[in-house]
Amino acid sequence: MFPQKYNIMRKIFFPVLLSFLLPFTALAGEGMWLPFLIGQLNEADMQALGMKMSAEDIYSVNKGSLKDAIVHFNGGCTSSIISPQGLLLTNHHCGFSAIQSHSTLQNNYLQDGFWAKKQSDELRNDHLVATFIDRIEDVTQEILAGVTDKMTTKQRQNKIAQNIKAFKKAYAKKKYEEILIKPFFKGNQYILFVTITYTDVRLVGAPPSAIGKFGADTDNWEWPRHSGDFSLFRIYANKDNLPADYSPDNQPLRPKHYLPVSLDGVETGDFTLVYGFPGRTDEYLPSFAVKQIQDVIDPARIEIRDHALKIMDKAMRADPAIRLQYASKYARIANYWKKWIGERTGLKKTHAVAKKEKIEAEFIQKLAQKPQLAQKYGDLLDEMDGKYQEIEFLAVYREYFHELFFRNIEIFKPANSLRRFLAKANQENYQPLASDTKKSLERFYKDYQVGVDREVFKSLMQLFTDNVCTAYFPDYLLANRYLEGYDTEQMATEFYDKSIFAHPEKLYQLIDEKKTDEIKKDPTYRLFVDIIDAYRTKLTPEYNGIKAPLDSMQRQYMAALMEVLPEKKFYPDANGTMRVSYGQVEGYQPKDGVQYLPKTYLSGVIAKYVPGDYEFDLPQRLLDLYEAKDYGRYAENGRLPVNFLGSNHTTGGNSGSPVIDAYGNIIGLNFDRVWEGTMSDLNYDRSICRNIMVDIRYVIWIMDKYAGAQRLVDEIKFVHPKAGQKSRKPWDEKHPKKKKRRHRWW
Ligand code: ARG
Ligand code: ASP
Repeated sequence: MFPQKYNIMRKIFFPVLLSFLLPFTALAGEGMWLPFLIGQLNEADMQALGMKMSAEDIYSVNKGSLKDAIVHFNGGCTSSIISPQGLLLTNHHCGFSAIQSHSTLQNNYLQDGFWAKKQSDELRNDHLVATFIDRIEDVTQEILAGVTDKMTTKQRQNKIAQNIKAFKKAYAKKKYEEILIKPFFKGNQYILFVTITYTDVRLVGAPPSAIGKFGADTDNWEWPRHSGDFSLFRIYANKDNLPADYSPDNQPLRPKHYLPVSLDGVETGDFTLVYGFPGRTDEYLPSFAVKQIQDVIDPARIEIRDHALKIMDKAMRADPAIRLQYASKYARIANYWKKWIGERTGLKKTHAVAKKEKIEAEFIQKLAQKPQLAQKYGDLLDEMDGKYQEIEFLAVYREYFHELFFRNIEIFKPANSLRRFLAKANQENYQPLASDTKKSLERFYKDYQVGVDREVFKSLMQLFTDNVCTAYFPDYLLANRYLEGYDTEQMATEFYDKSIFAHPEKLYQLIDEKKTDEIKKDPTYRLFVDIIDAYRTKLTPEYNGIKAPLDSMQRQYMAALMEVLPEKKFYPDANGTMRVSYGQVEGYQPKDGVQYLPKTYLSGVIAKYVPGDYEFDLPQRLLDLYEAKDYGRYAENGRLPVNFLGSNHTTGGNSGSPVIDAYGNIIGLNFDRVWEGTMSDLNYDRSICRNIMVDIRYVIWIMDKYAGAQRLVDEIKFVHPKAGQKSRKPWDEKHPKKKKRRHRWW
């Protein structure tokens, strides 16, 4: 607190002091940094927060480093290597479909969990890949060579595409390496990633869903949390330790690095580092764009999903069979529905629009002092504002198309499968294509209730006809009187009751008998074809006509911000590439008068237990272990830690990311964020943005005590860095010669 007598001084000095401190203090916790630039940008900041490693320990091209243990898991999640035998740790929700694919009613691994007793029991997955990053380089010069400010967007795109092609052709890489070049800072910078992808990734272990998904939708995006959201895989390689498709001769990968597991636990204030592959953020939008998301786009999305979810929920409550069929679909739709609601609340609560307006005011003020830049960028924000206004209704319609026809109304999924099938099928390939199509249709219909979908259709079509301008309607709707009175029951009769897509047996028969003309005559098929057509020919060209110049303005605005406010540290938006976030273990204040502590324990899991409930049931064995307080070396003052909170900047894609301590050991597993802070994708705010992690001790306790997976526990290297036990880098052990060089590990 500021003592009273300094009041006047405070008035004079505080703003000055603040303007010095702001760029720096505001950043602790904020940012998703490129690992190869940490030495330049973050090392000092991280060490000030308590990190004992050097930037070289985090990312190095010359020697093993943490980066060699970080693995992109099937392109969408993150995972990490935690043993010298390629054992891979990720979330349960990231491994979910792999676990599901091996589950049957007899062997229900989703429900009961799965633990491979020996290596030969580990289960092969044909469509699962694990990608390492070998090296990262800035290739902006090469990719932007010959690109000028005078070029049109199209010319610029063409030149860049040409340069990328030439670069890739000339770049010397090994046979098993791949090259990825991605735009950063809205296309002002280009970065190269050389990747190595392994294709033999086997399922090793998973807890029952009652542990891995404990709390399901009710707890999703919420704190306090009590989930054991983890699963285990293993990467296999050929005899040269290189990527190879599945073969019984493949051997467990010998990784360049694996993460030791710290059993020392976490306390408030401890340094944390999250290493992973965040998917997408938009931190440099102007105020009016954020306002548009907050007041127009998010509400539209939320309203659409509100309708769909209400109908599903009612049906699921009334019938346990439907509950089973719709659980996973419901979870998927509810996930982002809930996120957007939290995002809006958080944006408002942290005055995100006003905050961006302040940055813009500062930008304009600084601009005025630099006539040359003022000439170049002076009108930029006004022009962007105009474009955002122009694009608004089209952006909303786009949400309608995506949400209704490609997501929430289910009957268009089989219609789409048939559309693709009929587009590809010819005399020769008809049979095999038909059999593939039927297989995917069968998977779809297994969890389909036409009655539920029919209600969703009616409800959402009412929204569509009420809110979308007829100029963008599919022709089939226009041509068939549906505009007169918008009778959704009449539509449902035609598109459900009279459609073959509501009668799979009939559909299969038509496929078998090659009666493709009859399929093409189906009203739902015809409607869907026209939906695609309306999307492609009516909506998209108009939308892109505004979006393309807007993107180019956004790129200029980004460059301008960096040029005009050089004292600020900028980090690039997430784009699915490898990043480092860092912060501390800490709780937060979700609302006035409420303080959240940063750690939860097994007693909290038990307190939420509802026998037989589909979200909060628990396996008997967990209850027994709790009764016996059998926590072994994983306990903390007689309690078993479960989840914890931190101020690390994360987003979708960071799930499964290892949480690393000050010394380079794994202490947790990232899996979610708190509800109030989901607006971190647009406006990170240290006060309420928190990521949620599983305590690594809970993970290992379940492997060890719950599952008895001793052989896996034995692979892991355990350390006690806080107690002073030296956790040496595994690469030092493998290269004893190098040991003389005496790296300081902390
Ligand atoms: N909210 C987390 C994420 O965005 C977890 C989602 C999985 N869990 C669920 N109940 N849907 O991915
Ligand atoms: N749950 C998210 C994921 O699956 C992480 C997040 O959005 O915080 O990647």
